[in-house]
Amino acid sequence: MEGYKKQWDSGALSAISVFNIFIVMASSNEYSRRILNSPSYAEPCLVHSAKQVLRPDNWVFLTGKDHLAYRRGLNSLFTRRALGIYLSIQESIARKHLSKWLADAEKTSEAQPIMMTARHLNMDTSLRVFCGKHISEEAALEINEKYWAITQSLELVNFPLALPGTKVWKAVQARKAAMRWLELAAKRSKESMASGAEPECMLDEWVQILNDPNYKGRREFSDLEMAMVLFSFLFASQDAMSSGLIYGFQHLADNPDILAKVRAEQEVIRGGNYQKPLTLEMMDQMTYLNAFVKESMRVMPPVTMVPYKTTKAFPISDDYTVPANSMVIPSFYNSLHDPSIYPEPDKLMPERWLDAEGLANQNPKNYIVFGSGPHRCIGLEYAQMNIVLVLATAAVMMDFEHEITPLSSEVEIIATLFPKDGCHLKFTPRNP
Ligand code: HEM
Repeated sequence: MEGYKKQWDSGALSAISVFNIFIVMASSNEYSRRILNSPSYAEPCLVHSAKQVLRPDNWVFLTGKDHLAYRRGLNSLFTRRALGIYLSIQESIARKHLSKWLADAEKTSEAQPIMMTARHLNMDTSLRVFCGKHISEEAALEINEKYWAITQSLELVNFPLALPGTKVWKAVQARKAAMRWLELAAKRSKESMASGAEPECMLDEWVQILNDPNYKGRREFSDLEMAMVLFSFLFASQDAMSSGLIYGFQHLADNPDILAKVRAEQEVIRGGNYQKPLTLEMMDQMTYLNAFVKESMRVMPPVTMVPYKTTKAFPISDDYTVPANSMVIPSFYNSLHDPSIYPEPDKLMPERWLDAEGLANQNPKNYIVFGSGPHRCIGLEYAQMNIVLVLATAAVMMDFEHEITPLSSEVEIIATLFPKDGCHLKFTPRNP
């Protein structure tokens, strides 16, 4: 992270070469947004290994109008109606995992890193939200276990051939295993919807929309195609959500005054009844917690860079044109830490988001945690809601104490940002 920071601070545009690949880094808000919003010059290339890991025929590699049309169809999976279906699944998985965290914490007096346990929570949530009962416990466990190989393959540039034993080869094997289960889930969902069942997960919602006589878009999606879409969602979300959640826990544990405000808000919204199931309306009322999550991801943005590739010579500024076929990398950190928009930029201040007239809310173009332009994150509302939901549940169920180590404030980039020590927390039950 320190190396990248130096690079970003060296200029609004700077260049490096990795494995002989010419890379232009953009660190200012203006240039980063220009790359993200210039689809006729630059397209996402994700990381170098992404085509092998995701399969080259995955929809995320579509460009221009084809990409727009495909994505328009997928937007229906994130409507408010759809989010309402996902909410109860998210809550029950969060409660299940947090209860297990508490039970495990009782067995030891030591604080434990949440790096892997938080990742498992996220994976379980994603698989159940996407596939509901159409994926077995065994499948969820296998995908969870193998997914780490995929995360490890997400280096900016990998060894170019997926030879046996390389990180990319291992990731491709993990994808194949996951895809088998996801295809089966798509098939089961279609059968379930054909039998007249009510939609209970994202796949069901999708199948039902496709069957709706008023639906105008494309209707035929094979099991494989649906599985590839779900896999693209897993790929795009697993690391970013884990990063957002882990720093959410760390920031709350390190700021008891903020945690107290989160709890006070929960008390009011839940009317003192901590067993009452959450609704979308209750989620909307969590103004302070939503501001905290937004701020936590500003201070520590899960995704700091998104590699793009120029499709032709790109006149990015008055005096510089990026050559065709170069990597161009918009970076988000400096935008999100710009002191003229976010005074005391390293300080966690949820309040900056509570004032509609304040600098932060008046400059939404700087908040590029979820990107900008035609490839802006499709799951951003769902992601924000999920992190809010897990932290809301944790805040009322448990006390957590951060064991600060020399590495707690150091940042490791494993595709996304993580505290270098994995965030050691000690959990104890809380009965408000
Ligand atoms: C805290 C969690 C998340 C963060 C920080 C995040 C961030 C991002 C960013 C920075 C991009 C690239 C945007 C660009 O190029 O302009 C992106 C794209 C994307 N995200 Fe997310 N994301 C998160 C969660 C999710 C979730 C939960 C899903 C799906 C369920 C998802 C699905 C996608 C997809 C499919 C794309 C590619 C969209 C396209 O190419 O049209 N993300 N995300």
